[in-house]
Amino acid sequence: MRNSLFQRTRRLGNEGLTLSDELVFHFDIDGEDFTSAGQASVQIKKNLRQLGLPSEIIRRVSIAMYEGEINMVVHARGGKADVIVREDCIEIRLADSGPGIKNIEQAMQEGFSTASDEVRSLGFGAGMGLPNMKRYTDEMHIDSTVGVGTTVTMKVYFPVE
Ligand SMILES: Nc1ncnc2c1ncn2[C@@H]1O[C@H](COP(=O)(O)OP(=O)(O)O)[C@@H](O)[C@H]1O
Ligand SMILES: [Mg+2]
Repeated sequence: MRNSLFQRTRRLGNEGLTLSDELVFHFDIDGEDFTSAGQASVQIKKNLRQLGLPSEIIRRVSIAMYEGEINMVVHARGGKADVIVREDCIEIRLADSGPGIKNIEQAMQEGFSTASDEVRSLGFGAGMGLPNMKRYTDEMHIDSTVGVGTTVTMKVYFPVE
């Protein structure tokens, strides 16, 4: 797993006027590496704690991140994750070039899994990953093409005071 951080600043014209800042944490997630699976979610938890964000938000983001990361490892030979911290929300973007999901509605059902016996013997494949990603985030969108890959976008909003 490779991890990097960068700050994206949108500028208006050539005046250098900052419109909005966002912090982007990037992760390259190795496929088929079950021993280090879950590392990115551990790292993002640390990153968000350092920013002093609310613990309930961090908990939800790291659960969603963990499930998405595991899915890319076990179903898609790895992928990339960007966690974007904005003023109003945290967005998680997962992208892989795996086999894609044939039937998203079916994949979203609790307990549905195509995991192999080998994957199940390692403790994965309960079919609760996607349902939990939906449950712990405020928005979730899956875009998948068979033979091309899958992107999952999730948002967790900060509570309004
Ligand atoms: N990134 C992905 N690429 C391809 N298929 C996926 C991906 N994520 C999920 N799936 C499919 O959706 C099913 C349900 O996912 P999930 O709810 O996380 O359960 P599990 O991972 O335990 O099988 C998986 O078994 C798999 O068929
Ligand atoms: Mg899963």
